[in-house]
Amino acid sequence: MSKIKADFLVHNAGQLVTVAGYSQLPKRGAELADIGLVENGVLAAQDGIIVAVGPAAQVQEQVELTGDATVIDAGGRVVLPGLVDPHTHVVFAGSREHELEMKIAGMGYLEILAQGGGILDTVRATRAAGREELVAAGRKYLDQMLAQGTTTAEVKSGYGLTTEDEVKMLAAVRELHNSHPVDLVPTFLGAHAIPIEYKANPNAFVRLVIEEMLPAVAREGLAEFCDVFCEQGVFTVEQSRQILLAARRLGMQPKLHADEIVSLGGAELAVELGAVSADHLMAVSAEGIRQLAESVTVAVILPATTFCLMGKQYAPARSMIEQGVAVALASDFNPGSSPVNSMQIVMGLACRQLKMMPAEVVSAVTINSAHALGRAARVGSLEVGKQADLVIFDALDYRYLMYRFGTNLALTVIKSGKVV
Ligand code: NIG
Ligand code: FE
Repeated sequence: MSKIKADFLVHNAGQLVTVAGYSQLPKRGAELADIGLVENGVLAAQDGIIVAVGPAAQVQEQVELTGDATVIDAGGRVVLPGLVDPHTHVVFAGSREHELEMKIAGMGYLEILAQGGGILDTVRATRAAGREELVAAGRKYLDQMLAQGTTTAEVKSGYGLTTEDEVKMLAAVRELHNSHPVDLVPTFLGAHAIPIEYKANPNAFVRLVIEEMLPAVAREGLAEFCDVFCEQGVFTVEQSRQILLAARRLGMQPKLHADEIVSLGGAELAVELGAVSADHLMAVSAEGIRQLAESVTVAVILPATTFCLMGKQYAPARSMIEQGVAVALASDFNPGSSPVNSMQIVMGLACRQLKMMPAEVVSAVTINSAHALGRAARVGSLEVGKQADLVIFDALDYRYLMYRFGTNLALTVIKSGKVV
């Protein structure tokens, strides 16, 4: 039998966590704990694609290394698929540390926004910035994310709120995607806030999004998904529906900031539209959970946001999992509600605040988050034919990643079969 050629090999992985077997459909219920753990595992790749993976004896027999192959000894440590962060706002200008004092003093997120701060503060800074400045800032944050094990991330626009500035943001995302190792998935979020100049006439802004921004973004193929911040005082359920239907007609799949602060029926709208994901869900209704459980929509939970907003109510992850909702986790990295870009911190919070088990967390930051981006055929698990994106962590047991908190344990990050 002829052997498979490999130009990359990781061996001596004490725990090779493959998360295999769920590339077709996201995991639900008890499936979340099934993480395909291989002891003393080996993974081989050729041209950035996994060609063999499994127990050492089996893989070593299958593959033949090329002369210039990269060989890495994992030293008995844990190896996971590259982490997939399915909800971020990583491209923006400025920062909002001044809001920390307001929040400590008890001011609410929507209150800050209603006074022209919050998102609108970042809109002012982002409008004033050139594309190159946005690219430079984004690159710095992406470097931090990659160093912490994130190899694929979604990025939303939404700090421009004019056609020109939204296109500028998405062009920055495209430039970063083409020049940074982290794979980026672009989402148009023109309906992120009502800009000051439309405060008296929000419907006119909704028309601008539908009639001008969406066609401009579609014309240049700048976004794969369209998202809306459906929230009290921001965009109503009906406005969100109109925007997402228009986006779908132009080939952008719906996503939704749903039931983050006030329960408005965002989850139900996401299900009605067949959205790829419904995100946040801190205030999801019992009916919303029931409908999500029967849908194709992945529930993306963002515990770092609740933590940073000093919220008391986290999304009801346990009840969602028990009822069969496909759950994923994301950082929501942004300058306001979640200045956190470490998926390891999100993982530690998910155990402690959402009461998710470590194995469930692993599934929620790999294959299920890949499903939340329509990328599960390519990333999110270590299986033959998929991209060789993996992380060697300084841990001997995968549960150690969630047990430790606040220290970056990613030792070696591999993107498409190359150490980065
Ligand atoms: O997902 N909720 C709306 N958007 C972001 C926050 C953006 C910001 O505060 O700048 C979120 O929490
Ligand atoms: Fe968000």
